[in-house]
Amino acid sequence: MNFKLKIWRQREAKSRGKLVDYEVQDISPDTSFLEMLDILNENLLQVGEEAVAFDSDCREGSCGTCSLTVNGEAHGPDHPGAVCELYMRKFRDGATITIEPFRVGAFPIVKDLVIDRSAFDRIVQAGGFISARAGSAPEANSIPVPKHDADLAMEAAACIGCGACAAGCPNGSAMLFAAAKVSHLALLPQGHPERERRVLKMVRVMDAEGFGNCTNTYECEAVCPAEISASWIAKLNREYARAQFRQRMGE
Ligand code: SF4
Ligand code: FES
Repeated sequence: MNFKLKIWRQREAKSRGKLVDYEVQDISPDTSFLEMLDILNENLLQVGEEAVAFDSDCREGSCGTCSLTVNGEAHGPDHPGAVCELYMRKFRDGATITIEPFRVGAFPIVKDLVIDRSAFDRIVQAGGFISARAGSAPEANSIPVPKHDADLAMEAAACIGCGACAAGCPNGSAMLFAAAKVSHLALLPQGHPERERRVLKMVRVMDAEGFGNCTNTYECEAVCPAEISASWIAKLNREYARAQFRQRMGE
C-alpha cells in the first residue's frame, strides 16, 4: 500500500508549526500505524532529514503514551483502541492521512507530534492515590469489597491516561479522565479515608490546568481506547457534590 502523509512538524514549543507532505510506499496492510511512522523516519534519516518526533512506549494500548490525531480523530479511525493498535489496513490504498498532535491547550506541543501531558500527572498527584498502608496482596476472598463494586472499580481503573478524551472534546475537558480516577478509588474501601479531599483537590487542579467543562457531547467516550463510559462523569459530579456538602457540614 502507498500513502500520502501530511504531518505536523514543529521544531519546538514556541516555534510555528505546519503540515508537511511525505509519502510512504510498499507498506504491508499488516503494518501498524506507528511502524509506518518508523519506516518513514528510517527513510528520512537515510536522506539526511530529521525524523518526525512522536511518542510511544508499550505499543499495545496500555501505557497511554501514543497521542496522535489521525484524520481529525484522536487515536485515529479504529475505535476503541489507541493509535498504537491501529493498522494500515484500516486505510484505503493511496489515501492521504493527516497526522497531528492532540490539540489541547493544557497539553503544550513539545516538538512535532510530541505533547506534554504532565497536566494529567499533576491531577493525579493532587489526589489520585491512597495513603493507607495496604500491605502486601491479601488473600482475594478476604477483601471486603462487593463483587459489583470491584467490577465497577476495575472498569474505571482501565483508564490509561492517554488524554484522548480531552483531545476529542470540543471544550478540551478532562472530566472523563478525572471521573475514572476519582471513581476507581471512591468505590474501594482503601480509597475512602481521602474520598472527599481527593475529589475536591483533583477537580481544583483540573480547572487550574485549564481544562474545559463537560457539555455532554460524548466525544470523550467515542475516542476513549479503554471504553470508559461518559456516565462516570455523573459519578464524578455526585462525588464532588457530596464532598462539598460534607465539607460545608464540617464533617
Ligand atoms: S478516560 Fe479514556 S481517553 Fe481519557 S485518558 Fe482515560 S483512557 Fe484516555
Ligand atoms: S504506545 Fe502505549 S498505549 Fe500506545
